Amino acid sequence: MKTTTPPRILLVENIHPIAKEYLENEGYAVDLLTYAPTEEELIQLAPKYCAIGIRSKTEITEKVLQTCAQTATIGCFCIGTNQVDLKSARGKGVAVFNAPHSNTRSVAELVIAEMIALSRQLGDRNSKAHLGEWFKSAEGSKEVRGKTLGIVGYGHIGSQVSVLAESMGLKVVFYDAVKKLPLGNAVVMNKLEDLLRVSDFVTLHVPEIVETMNMIGEREFAMMKKGSYLINASRGTVVVIEDLVKALKDKHIAGCAVDVFPVEPASNKEKFLSPLQNLPNVILTPHIGGSTEEAQRNIGMEVAESFRRYLKIGSSSGAVNFPNVDLPIKKGTSRILNVHKNEPGVLGEINTIISKAGANIEGQFLSTDDEIGYLVMDVHSTHAANLCQEIEKLNRSIRTRVVY
Ligand code: NAI
Repeated sequence: MKTTTPPRILLVENIHPIAKEYLENEGYAVDLLTYAPTEEELIQLAPKYCAIGIRSKTEITEKVLQTCAQTATIGCFCIGTNQVDLKSARGKGVAVFNAPHSNTRSVAELVIAEMIALSRQLGDRNSKAHLGEWFKSAEGSKEVRGKTLGIVGYGHIGSQVSVLAESMGLKVVFYDAVKKLPLGNAVVMNKLEDLLRVSDFVTLHVPEIVETMNMIGEREFAMMKKGSYLINASRGTVVVIEDLVKALKDKHIAGCAVDVFPVEPASNKEKFLSPLQNLPNVILTPHIGGSTEEAQRNIGMEVAESFRRYLKIGSSSGAVNFPNVDLPIKKGTSRILNVHKNEPGVLGEINTIISKAGANIEGQFLSTDDEIGYLVMDVHSTHAANLCQEIEKLNRSIRTRVVY
């Protein structure tokens, strides 16, 4: 009896086991490595795999990508993608995926916990109790109910915080650089300044971009209500730390919770130093906003699902280095995928091949970026494999495959 070998996927750096389980159920053979392989190891390994899953410590260099003739996709089972040479991957027709929002809920929950912790000085009271001090007093302790939470950046995380906070009886106002639909009873603020003036808690959920660098400094702290709190679980560069320290020492700001810092230790073995250390009602956490078991599992599922969709139906939705295309399956057709250099005339050449073969195009979708075009084509033909070979021979084709 003839048996077919299942396509192989490599997952390294202890990716959550759910990814292996999911991909095996989808018919792939999954090999695991517990560590981050070196460039030399990857050069040896890559040719065997149709997809490679990494986390933050494995580098996918130009040299590795040169050996990726069979590897259609790289998955970063994390948020960042700096460890992959994205430009080179794109030039070789390798789609790169990540999981930017799998930890949204985890960050939102931390923020909610921190609002209450700051309001009740939990950090300081906990430390004192451990040191044998009994500090029972209601002074300065408040409920969060009825207070105003100002959310800066109403994206995935900011909007989740909004929903959770309202359910605990807070009033929510938010400011975003782009127009966003308010959830629940949240109120839009047209200016950051307006938000700062009315909020009892200000929580930051903006990306790290030029516009958000030092977004909250001396001027902004002065606008915040006396006795208000700041929470930053976005990126360290968004807040001017020295100005925050001054606002805390002046008792203008009653406390803060900071999860992200302008400079962070590279590993758990490195010492952490910050001017915010040893100040009252200051909660410092080691960038753990998104670090939960649930988030790891969600990341495992999200990227495994991206693999399945890209390998089986050619959906590049969510790819960070590729035009995003997502077409529903059309029954009774074969699907050919082609990545090509984005130059005039390529589509015409491809269509000529199809029409010469007498095949009928049932659906065709082309999306391009500056460098490449990604074409998904559904054809009525029993010769899709032959068509694929002909298209692949074109000078400007980078990668062509038939998915079904
Ligand atoms: P997102 O992209 O969904 O939302 C960001 C929002 O900020 C968008 O609505 C955008 O329009 C808005 N924005 C951009 N520039 C702005 C500006 N100048 N002023 C006001 N609003 C602006 O991002 P998401 O997933 O909500 O993440 C937010 C932040 O949280 C990011 O910095 C991310 O790196 C960080 N993060 C931190 C984690 C942790 O462990 N502490 C884990 C996950 C994300």
